Amino acid sequence: MKKEKSFTYTQVPNRGDLNAADLDLLEIAEQAVHTAYAPYSDFKVGVALRLENGLTVRGSNQENAAFPMCVCGEQVALAHAGSNYPGIAVISMAIAAQSAQGWNGPLAPCGACRQIIAEHEKRGGKAIRLVLLGGKDEVYIFEGVSPLLPFAFDDTYF
Ligand code: THU
Repeated sequence: MKKEKSFTYTQVPNRGDLNAADLDLLEIAEQAVHTAYAPYSDFKVGVALRLENGLTVRGSNQENAAFPMCVCGEQVALAHAGSNYPGIAVISMAIAAQSAQGWNGPLAPCGACRQIIAEHEKRGGKAIRLVLLGGKDEVYIFEGVSPLLPFAFDDTYF
C-alpha cells in the first residue's frame, strides 16, 4: 500500500515581511556569520537561537584541516545552549550564510544537524521554529524540524 506524507512551510518573499522576533533573530544569525571559521570551504554559516527565557545564543561553523572534524554552526549553537542553559527550551532558530556562489531555496540544515535539532526539540518539549534565509533574501519558516526529518530516529526505538 502506497502512503504519502506532506508538509507545509511558509515562504516570506522578503525579510521586511517577517515579524519583529524572526527578523531580529535572522539579523543575529547574520552577525554570527562573521564569527565563522571556514578557511577550507569558504562557506560561512551563522546561527541564532532564541530560548524560552528570551535569551539569544549564537553559533557559527568551525572548520578543521582534518575535514571530518568540521563542526556546523547549528551544532555549535545548540551545544552552547544545551551546556550553558540546561533545562531552558530553544524555541526558534535562524540560519544564515555567506557564500561566493550564492544558493537557491532555503538554507536548510544538513542531515546530522536535523537529528540534533530533533533531540533539542525533545529536550525542550516543543517544536523549534526554523527561520531559514533563502538565496534571494526570501525567508522560509518551518514549524519544527519534523518536515525536514520525517521518520526521525529517537529514543522510542530502544
Ligand atoms: N555547514 C553548516 O555549518 N551547517 C549546515 O547545515 C551545512 C554545512 C558548514 C559545514 C562546513 O564548515 C561548511 O558549512 C561547508 O559544508
